This record gives sequence, C-alpha cells and structure tokens, in this order.
Amino acid sequence: MKITSLALLLSLLLIASTGSLAQQSPLAPTPPMGWNSWNHFAERVDAATIRAQADAMVSSGMKDAGYTYINIDDTWEAGRDTNGFIQPNSKFPDMKGLADYVHGKGLKLGIYSSPADKTCAGYAGSLGHEEQDAQTYAKWGIDYLKYDWCQSGGTLDEMKIAYTKMHDALTKTGRPIVLSLCQYGWHKVWEWGPSVGGNLWRTTGDITDQYRAMAEIGFNQNGLQKFAGPGHWNDPDMLEVGNGGMNEDEYRTHMSLWAILAAPLIAGNDLSQMTPYTVELLTNREVIAVDQDSVGQQGFRISQEGPFEVWMKPMADGSKVVGLFNRQRTTEQMNVKFNEIGIQKSATVRDLWLKKDLGSFTDGFSAYVPSHGVVLVRIKTR
Ligand code: GLA
Repeated sequence: MKITSLALLLSLLLIASTGSLAQQSPLAPTPPMGWNSWNHFAERVDAATIRAQADAMVSSGMKDAGYTYINIDDTWEAGRDTNGFIQPNSKFPDMKGLADYVHGKGLKLGIYSSPADKTCAGYAGSLGHEEQDAQTYAKWGIDYLKYDWCQSGGTLDEMKIAYTKMHDALTKTGRPIVLSLCQYGWHKVWEWGPSVGGNLWRTTGDITDQYRAMAEIGFNQNGLQKFAGPGHWNDPDMLEVGNGGMNEDEYRTHMSLWAILAAPLIAGNDLSQMTPYTVELLTNREVIAVDQDSVGQQGFRISQEGPFEVWMKPMADGSKVVGLFNRQRTTEQMNVKFNEIGIQKSATVRDLWLKKDLGSFTDGFSAYVPSHGVVLVRIKTR
C-alpha cells in the first residue's frame, strides 16, 4: 500500500515537473537573429521591401547561417477601425499575405508597436488596445513584437504594468511571439525585464552607423552579463554592418563585440544590396557560433589599458573566445595572458575571422591588431 502511494506521488511529481518545464521552455533560447527595417529604411519601409529582404535573407545564405526574423519597425500603422482594431497603412495592404510569404521562405515575421498612444515616430500605439493588438498580430501570423516605450518620464511601475499587459495579451493568443522591450535602458530594465515577460530588452539609446557611436554602446555593456541568459537577453541595439558608415575593421569589431556580448544579431542593412565582404561578416559561422553558444553566457572585459580592451566569452565546450580590441588610430600589438582566462600553460588558438588554426601557445597569445579593429580567437586546452 505504502509502495503504491509512493509510486503515485512520484508519478504526480514527475507530471507536475514535466508540465512546468514545458511551460517554461523559453522563446529565444539563444539570442534572436534576423533583420529589422529601421536602421536602413526607417519610414520608407513597405511590403515590397519586406519581401525583397526575405528573398535576400535566403539567397545570401543568411538564413542558412541562422538568421530567421524579418522585422517591420515603426511606420506601418494606419489607425483603428470603428471597433478599435489596428489597421496597416497603404504601404502594407495585406499583412496576412505578407506573413504567409515570409513563412513560405522558412522565415518569421516581426512587427513593432508602443505601449503608449503614439509610437516613437508618432503612429498609432497599443495603449488601451493591448488584447486586440495581440489578437490581430496572432491572426496575421506575427512571430516577434518590438514594443517601444518613447515617452520620457514614465515611472518604473508604469513601465512594468504596460509591458506585462502586452506580455499577458500575447500569451493569451497561444501563438509564440518573442517580446522585445525597447526603452533606451531606462530604469535598469535588465533587472526586471524577465519579470514582465521580456525575451530581450534594449540597454542603450539608438545606435548610429559610426564607429564612435557603435563603440560607445558596445564597450559600455560590461557589467550587464549577469542579467542575460537563455530566453532573456540584453540588447545593445541592431547591427549597422553593411550600411556604409564604418570601414571593414570597424564593422568586424561591431560583429565580434556583439557576438561576445551574446547580443541579438538583428541586421539593419539592405540585404538585397550587399557586398561580398558584408555577406562574409554577417554569415561567418564560427563568429555566429560564439553569439549563439548554448550556455548563453554574455562575455565581459577582462583587461583594459586605455584604448586596448580584452574581452572574453566562456563557451559550452570549455573553450574561451577572446577579442583583442584596439580602439586607437594605429596598429598595436596586444596580448592575453592565459591565466587571466582560467587556462594553465598551453592551449591551441584559432582565428575566427581568418578561420585558421594558429597553433599551440604557452602562457599567452599576442597579435597585431589594426586601428579600430579586432583579433577574435577561440582558445582551447587539449
Ligand atoms: C526608437 C527605437 C528605434 C526605432 C524607432 C522607430 O527610436 O529605439 O529602434 O524603433 O523608435 O520610431
């Protein structure tokens, strides 16, 4: 009798734990990868642009490299019909048809709104219509929502309530929709983002296509690493790679730093007009593997001497990815000591941009790093 009750209790516990695991199975187990319209197209985005970007994501090899989301940013909204349902404007005559097109390519579609009356660009926001909007997105086949808070002076409680409301409305639809919180990093969103259902949250203001702006954002992420992990990511904003405002070394720094940061890799260029170098930067599998590592440990700075910064990201297989970043205007020799990254004596080093094994090294590794550039290596003990 006792044995039977014990068995029953054990199986109930098992069912309970399996059930709760299933519920918790996170959206965005690795940082989301995709494309967003804002950085390049801003208000010029329309349905034809979205189709062309989806086509190019496939034909360029980006889809095969892991990019999935095609995200429409602000300026798609018309207003509401008499029943309060949001309508797309004339740039997007058939949102469901567009979602079907994107899904037909094996990709996912994202959209944008704000928890206020107006979006950041002054279009209709979701305030007071959260459930209706979530239902509309689900009906169209939306897979990702960037939910952007632009009003200054919102209190912490107001933000939490607004984001939770949309999260609950999305959950109620039964459709898995990634929730991206956007609010310039106000009120230390990384501390409470998961509690309101965010899968990622912006930690900074808007990026621009200049080395100085990108570096200011990227190198300032140090310290936030304990807030990121599977299902919940810090978001230092979208990529500018390929938009033309930085040189090749600077874009390589951008991509390397975002990979070390386990940042969402949301391209922001015109995918239908890419140089071979841009494609190579965006699709380097070994660099993407750093970003997408299953442990989801955001990297951090391990040393700094003025403009020379060494960053490290621990990987699931025990190897360490190290970025030697040179923020000054001339080439410089930089090094990492193995004892700084928890490696005793010898290790093998692979250059992830050259895709080349550099051999076995003892005590440390050094390399010449070009101005505003990076040497990105994966270091393994045998
Ligand atoms: C804010 C966001 C941008 C973009 C615009 C759209 O500035 O930070 O990424 O979404 O709004 O209006």
